[in-house]
Amino acid sequence: MGPRASETVTGDLTADTVRVALREVQYPGLTRDIVTFGMVDQVSVCSGRVKVRIALRTADASVPAQLEASITRALRSHGAVAVAVEIVAPAAAPAARAPRHGAGDPWGGRVRLTHVRHVVAVGAGKGGVGKSTVAVNVALALARDGLRAGLLDADIYGPSLPILLGIEDGAHLVRMSKAKHILPLAAHGLPIISFGFFLGEGSPAIWRGPMVSKAVKQFARGVEWPELDVLVVDLPPGTGDVPLSLAQAVEISGAIVVMQPPRVAATEARKAAEMFRSLEVPVLGLVENMTGAFGRGAGRALSAEMSVPFLGEIPFDRGIVEEGDRGVPTMIARPSSTSGAAFDHVARGVATALGWRHIAAGARP
Ligand SMILES: Nc1ncnc2c1ncn2[C@@H]1O[C@H](COP(=O)(O)OP(=O)(O)O)[C@@H](O)[C@H]1O
Ligand SMILES: [Mg+2]
Repeated sequence: MGPRASETVTGDLTADTVRVALREVQYPGLTRDIVTFGMVDQVSVCSGRVKVRIALRTADASVPAQLEASITRALRSHGAVAVAVEIVAPAAAPAARAPRHGAGDPWGGRVRLTHVRHVVAVGAGKGGVGKSTVAVNVALALARDGLRAGLLDADIYGPSLPILLGIEDGAHLVRMSKAKHILPLAAHGLPIISFGFFLGEGSPAIWRGPMVSKAVKQFARGVEWPELDVLVVDLPPGTGDVPLSLAQAVEISGAIVVMQPPRVAATEARKAAEMFRSLEVPVLGLVENMTGAFGRGAGRALSAEMSVPFLGEIPFDRGIVEEGDRGVPTMIARPSSTSGAAFDHVARGVATALGWRHIAAGARP
């Protein structure tokens, strides 16, 4: 690069143009860029020398090096003569601790939800494996065991908890608090909020990444929950923007991954589990759902392979479908059935993983 060329280009480099250039840098393995994800913490530029600070929380040791390489490449192509990348944990970043005045993303940084002791995310590699069914029935089983449980339906692409809980008219019932927070509805004794209550005619299927990210963050933090021991969050399937945005917005104690028995499904489930790990969300365990109809044992095998707890198998049971359709979940309709006992077993595994050891004896934590 000749001195003249470098002069003209670097002359244009400012903190703002650097931030624009950083939009070309994708988070490894995901479709969105690091600016959209709110990871760019600080930028300083001095005659073509750029310093970038990235606030990042990941358990995947290869991510920082990959990001450093792609950030350097992108900024050099925009004329930076030197690039220094510093990667810090979000908690250590001043921007995350105290929002700078008039600058930055007001939703940047991770918060602990008020009144909520543990957030437990339920994810899956693909749709239709029974993730929502497991989320609902495990939350109800936790409540039966004396824990204060709540449900957040963050499956923005296919919110189904209103149907499973028989509150399809929820959109008309939701109210805001004086402080402009969303107040949860109650269904079968559980406080619940679904993204579906707020979608109206708009479909997030056409939303761009930044819209999804902002909506999820606002939604996750904007609910005024009562005192809860566990908030179970139903995520969309896959490894997209929603889990990442959620993990950036709120502290998550752990995740459950739901999968179906065929061995081929293990690849997708593994991706989901690896995504949680890379977001530093501990995987509390795997659940095999619809055991019997498509085989058996893939969940246990993958758990062993990935060294994560196996939380149990839920049998294939047509009653579960019928109960879901009429909005009376199995844990309400038939808690003592084989399926009910299976959900209860999973719930106790979750409670144990969160540190409650006396749930089986019926003692409140
Ligand atoms: N153990 C089961 N046995 C039989 N059908 C089930 C079982 N679990 C879920 N289903 C059914 O499978 C379908 C998909 O379940 P759902 O919970 O909506 O999946 P997801 O949230 O993963 O898309 C629903 O019709 C549901 O009733
Ligand atoms: Mg679902």
